[in-house]
Amino acid sequence: MSQTIWSTRPADLYGRRKRDRFYTALWGVGVLFGGFASASRWTTSRIAPVRRTNSAVVTKRELLAPDVVALTLADPDGGLLPSWTPGAHIDVRLPSGRRRQYSLCGPPGRRTDYRIAVRRIADGGGGSIEMHDTFDVDDILVFEGPRNAFHLVTDEHEVLFVIGGIGVTPILPMIQLAHQHGINWRAVYAGRSRQYMPLLDEVTAVAPDRVTVWADDERGRLPPAADLLADAGPTTAVYVCGPPAMLEKVRTARDEHANAPLHYERFSPPPVVDGVPFELELAHSQRVLRVPANRSALDVMLDHDPTTAYSCQQGFCGTCKLKVLAGEVDRRGRTTEGDDEMLVCVSRAKSDRVVIDA
Ligand code: FES
Repeated sequence: MSQTIWSTRPADLYGRRKRDRFYTALWGVGVLFGGFASASRWTTSRIAPVRRTNSAVVTKRELLAPDVVALTLADPDGGLLPSWTPGAHIDVRLPSGRRRQYSLCGPPGRRTDYRIAVRRIADGGGGSIEMHDTFDVDDILVFEGPRNAFHLVTDEHEVLFVIGGIGVTPILPMIQLAHQHGINWRAVYAGRSRQYMPLLDEVTAVAPDRVTVWADDERGRLPPAADLLADAGPTTAVYVCGPPAMLEKVRTARDEHANAPLHYERFSPPPVVDGVPFELELAHSQRVLRVPANRSALDVMLDHDPTTAYSCQQGFCGTCKLKVLAGEVDRRGRTTEGDDEMLVCVSRAKSDRVVIDA
């Protein structure tokens, strides 16, 4: 299992460190880009883990914003890369052992090359810095995937895309595909300022009259839910990718008149739902950690050991899976957890204590 190193919790997609209050209260568990659900049903899909490992050569490196670099990747032998659909991401294996997920943001389905974009988070877990500082043209990058938990439903008639910051990466190819399919779409793209809104030119280039730009520094405030959803009628499907506060704002507002699905993807852990406190015993160190109702076991483990392995923080990549030696697990993962396994980023305990092989 790869090891990841982080010293603090991740910033949001705008690069702000301060947590949204709602999510601070509920913080605990950890899909970019992560998962999708219906506003009325809030179902979650199970995602098969992708174990296929590929390598690609970096053919281009470009600065999309002061803190965002884009890498273009190609098959080292000049062949085609694995097929993908808009909303898909790849799991990058960094030289340090960290694993990080990045959405494919090139033209929909393109296989001659991929493009990913990475926002540098100075005080994050180190993955984005490693991506920025390690990879240049001609370097080889190892990845798994692509896989997709954030599909565009192409028989949708009306679609609103709500974008926050680097959340543009899965949405851009979705917009391009929606346009190709003749879907009646609109988009609102919000960010702290235009220069920090990567790929803004490419989003507006698809159809300028369909895109609303909300730059906080021009409007003097964050976008209210009513503005984010101004173009969403009762039958409009909404796709949103952005920071937790934006997701929650849209989800809450959309719940009030949900006749059409809300699809979303996260770059950060989802809140714990119906959490009950439990004890987590780490067999190797014989430490017992108290996991409160509103935090994940992974979150608590990271306080204890910042090198604890994780990637998606949302229960589908399998990176955080640990062997269970005793206790009963409340399995909440979207990928398979065996009878003696636990995805510590999302799963919890049914018994008072769970002993894990860590
Ligand atoms: S970190 Fe991906 S399943 Fe836990």
